[in-house]
Amino acid sequence: MATQPAAQPPVGTTTTPPHRPGRVRRAVDVIDERLGITALEYPVPEHANNVAWSLGGVTAFAFGLLVVTGVLLVQFYAPVPEAANQSVRDLSSQVWGMRFVRGLHYWAAQAMYVTAALHLLRVFFTGSYKRPREGNWLVGVAMFGLVIFGLFTGTVLKWDQEGFEALGHNLELAGLLGGAGLWFSADFANTVPILVRLYGAHVVMIPGLILVLLTLHGLLVKRHRISPHPALPADESGDQAPPAEPTEPFTHHLRRIAAFGLVLTGLLGVVAVLWPPSVGPRPVTGIEVTRPPWTFWWMFTLENWVGLSGILYGGGVLFLLLIILPFVDRNRNRHWRRRPVAMALGLLVLLTIATLTVLMLFTTAETHL
Ligand code: HEM
Repeated sequence: MATQPAAQPPVGTTTTPPHRPGRVRRAVDVIDERLGITALEYPVPEHANNVAWSLGGVTAFAFGLLVVTGVLLVQFYAPVPEAANQSVRDLSSQVWGMRFVRGLHYWAAQAMYVTAALHLLRVFFTGSYKRPREGNWLVGVAMFGLVIFGLFTGTVLKWDQEGFEALGHNLELAGLLGGAGLWFSADFANTVPILVRLYGAHVVMIPGLILVLLTLHGLLVKRHRISPHPALPADESGDQAPPAEPTEPFTHHLRRIAAFGLVLTGLLGVVAVLWPPSVGPRPVTGIEVTRPPWTFWWMFTLENWVGLSGILYGGGVLFLLLIILPFVDRNRNRHWRRRPVAMALGLLVLLTIATLTVLMLFTTAETHL
């Protein structure tokens, strides 16, 4: 078959060669074709471009820091009652850099608790838990519970007096819970020390569950899109930012979170050097002399007022309120001025926790174990 001659450009005209993307662009395209990274460039409304609306991302960053430093700590920590306390002291004093890593791990845990609580408050005050985001609120509540459980198990692991008394409370509370508390009791597995099981929870179950829930949380944020700003008009459904609001790609939002996260890491690094976490000597049984870490102070006050069950009632009521909030609050308004009941109750809960926390300083410790 005869072939046609290639078409020639008309005489007197010039042709521009087809634009060839640069090497980096081509590499990104090759990867994107296989992994679909550009799906992350979905639009995020402008009102989410600030610290308050990025607190969830900063919390996720702190979680990443905990995983990295945690993996390093695991290399030198011995999770058995005979060796745990000594191994923490050895890794802090004899392994190069590990004193800093332990400090970073400790302070990143405090930071994650604080940023998760602030994120929860942001979501509460902007009414972002309302339809259709009730399910994602519950995922958040579950993660918050896991963060608290992580702080508790982390305290036990160092196996000094503070950790040992924290474990004592764990065992007493397990007894009060009856069958429901079996996993938290030493009877659950007679041949495995409870320290080993709490270690398993701390390094596998808690971070693993957080990772699964965090993935679900992120997917739901993408699906529902970020909630509208309460002070701006929403779209006609009332659930989304209006189409007229300017947007930016989510990848830019991620960059901002990474910047906030790096600043946080720098600050935590300084704090870790200046105030490394302590570890006391091996515990003495039969005494109760320590006070819990500050995150549990409000429960400590309750415990001293009404006994050990105060911890169960206090924690139970707080989490019950968090769980039922999106289902009992049927007010569709998001602005705090048009939500007087939710605001009053929210402030009451905050004030109660703050007051109980401060009262810890003036509470005489009773013996409960
Ligand atoms: C504990 C770890 C948590 C992480 C890592 C996390 C992460 C995130 C991220 C990255 C977002 C996107 C918006 C933003 O950054 O503000 C988000 C949104 C959201 N989070 Fe969380 N979160 C956590 C805990 C919580 C808690 C404790 C709650 C509430 C009880 C919660 C409820 C929500 C809701 C309802 C949204 C959607 C907000 C909106 O559309 O404005 N999250 N979370």
